Amino acid sequence: MTSAALPRDGATGRGPARTLRQRLRGVAEAAVTPLDLDDVLDVFHPLRRGADLRARIVEVRPETAEAATLVLKPGRDWSGHVPGQYVRVGVDVDGVRLWRTYSLTHGTRPDRHISITVKAIPDGVVSNHLVHRAKPGQMIQLAQPEGDFVLPDPLPSRLLLVTGGSGITPVIGMLRNLFSRRNPADVDIVLLHVNASASSAIFRDELRRHAAAGRLRLVERFDDRDGLLDVEHPEHGLAALVPDLDERLAYGCGPAGLLDALEAHHESRGLTLHTERFRPVVLGETGEGGTVTFGSADGEGVTVEADGATPLLDAGESAGVLMPSGCRMGVCFGCVVPLRSGAVRDLRNGAVTVAVPGETGPEGVPVQTCINAAAGPCSLEIGATR
Ligand SMILES: Cc1cc2nc3c(=O)[nH]c(=O)nc-3n(C[C@H](O)[C@H](O)[C@H](O)COP(=O)(O)OP(=O)(O)OC[C@H]3O[C@@H](n4cnc5c(N)ncnc54)[C@H](O)[C@@H]3O)c2cc1C
Ligand code: FES
Repeated sequence: MTSAALPRDGATGRGPARTLRQRLRGVAEAAVTPLDLDDVLDVFHPLRRGADLRARIVEVRPETAEAATLVLKPGRDWSGHVPGQYVRVGVDVDGVRLWRTYSLTHGTRPDRHISITVKAIPDGVVSNHLVHRAKPGQMIQLAQPEGDFVLPDPLPSRLLLVTGGSGITPVIGMLRNLFSRRNPADVDIVLLHVNASASSAIFRDELRRHAAAGRLRLVERFDDRDGLLDVEHPEHGLAALVPDLDERLAYGCGPAGLLDALEAHHESRGLTLHTERFRPVVLGETGEGGTVTFGSADGEGVTVEADGATPLLDAGESAGVLMPSGCRMGVCFGCVVPLRSGAVRDLRNGAVTVAVPGETGPEGVPVQTCINAAAGPCSLEIGATR
């Protein structure tokens, strides 16, 4: 077709030309009226391009008694990720959608499925749901991948990876992708994998196979066999386990105690260390809490008493408020809502944010609810309350 044959805006008096896709959509919309076409498509084709990003659980594979890998078929708009990155997932638990963050653990897969590996923590709402109750066929919400806990390009010649418990998850994603390369990368890798016991070590057998094949040197530490790892110990600490650690680019992911010790160790020697934390570092000392009002624009409101150590996000969710959230550790800003009045305290550094009606403007002051707690009475605006 030449350009002269194309209908132009206004030339026909019928508005802009409609593509074949738009015309088909118009026919489909008419066919499903009074239902909304997107609602109908969500039932039959929820992973289609252009829909809210979701994933279908295709497999739940137990890894240990308390951990499982969920293999997911992501929606067509999934962008792909860099190994080491994480994804936010939205899961409906007892009728409430809760968002949590999980590292991507898959290697390259011909079926383009992705995976996360979840460890159920005591009283953990979402982790227990995913590990013990999620079933193949169920849908979950997905965000696009994020995170900068990734290997550099080009790769260093020597790597030190230190992981504790579920902190192995971003690292297994890196390793699986490295080892599945057509031209294997020439990297000398030491993996120090710390766990409470052998039976709780996620990916234990796979890591041992990689070690047996000469792809990495695996140093396993089990608290029940070896005692708690003392990173600075002259005979049993990090320097003894990895004598050439000064020459290795280091990555660490695991519980706060292990990461704090690693950071202190590397800082004191002027060595570079990249860390990924699953929880924010908060101050030991917190202040007074207060009465928190979660109010929606439609006038609905919920009021709770919160102490000065409880994140506003947790206080709201516990009261049944539909809170926006994401990483829950101050990184993604998925939990930001306007503070209309009162004061909140940043649990990481004690900084207090205050909103005074009439002085702070009609928008209020945006605050991250996952790392702020009440510092006296305060009022937050939430899109909708449950
Ligand atoms: C970047 C990033 C990557 C992550 N990757 C993974 C992963 O690959 N696998 C994985 O299992 N988890 C991962 N997490 C942790 C995960 O997002 C959730 O925090 C965890 O599953 C707990 O959620 P929950 O709903 O079960 O617990 P909640 O119901 O939110 O909390 C229950 C109780 O446990 C405490 N708690 C919350 N989180 C933790 C935690 N991580 N460790 C110990 N206590 C906690 C809470 O303070 C509360 O007292 C990651 C977190 C981040 C920020
Ligand atoms: S939930 Fe990510 S910053 Fe608060």
